[in-house]
Amino acid sequence: MQSEKKFTDFTVTAMNRIIAPSMLSADFGHLERDTRMIDASAAQWVHIDVMDGVFVPNISFGFPVMKPIRRATSKLLDVHLMIVDPERYVERFVEEGADLVTFHQEATSDPMGCIERIRKAGARVGISIKPATGVETLCDLLPYVDLVLVMSVEPGFGGQSFIEGSLAKISQLRKMIREQGLDTIIEVDGGISARNARAVYDAGADALVAGSAVFKAEDPAAEIVRILEA
Ligand code: DX5
Ligand code: ZN
Repeated sequence: MQSEKKFTDFTVTAMNRIIAPSMLSADFGHLERDTRMIDASAAQWVHIDVMDGVFVPNISFGFPVMKPIRRATSKLLDVHLMIVDPERYVERFVEEGADLVTFHQEATSDPMGCIERIRKAGARVGISIKPATGVETLCDLLPYVDLVLVMSVEPGFGGQSFIEGSLAKISQLRKMIREQGLDTIIEVDGGISARNARAVYDAGADALVAGSAVFKAEDPAAEIVRILEA
């Protein structure tokens, strides 16, 4: 039995899967409409992908996009920073409404400093690893974070295929978390759909990010339920 994890106002258990639709795949001409649609759906979190064109070969959006999203939902804002030196900007994302700020372990030379800044600013802390980064690199940091985000595609773009090797990483991470007696949440991001969601949850994930699977669906709210019940 997985232990219960308190996370803001949500209790995550093995029976309580989390889904975080990624706004990267939303229609930016109708950002408020798309955020309200997620707000009214069964999704518990809203995932926001920030890219700087340096850490990843793509640029998405930054601070100005936070406000309209924050205004249109009271759900947990899960901000995924794909930027170098994230410690420079984490406070500002919390000011703009982030409840959870996740940075990349590969993007900073001072992960502990980054963790402390996010916590001091009042948000939950997540750390993420790219597909080529081993979970063992997080061993010493695990006690200080609320969540680990395992990238199951190369960060930078939506719509890529899930890397199957991620399943073994998720199981290994789940084992590490258990061995350290922690209740760290595992989130998985990239190539998630109703077809593979069960396998990813079964490998030990608590929260799944889904961008194109949700927003390209004819009925996004129904697709969210399909992923949650996969
Ligand atoms: C990719 C982003 C993802 C992306 C997922 O770098 O971190 O959150 O939006 O998109 P899909 O679900 O389409 O793979
Ligand atoms: Zn993401």
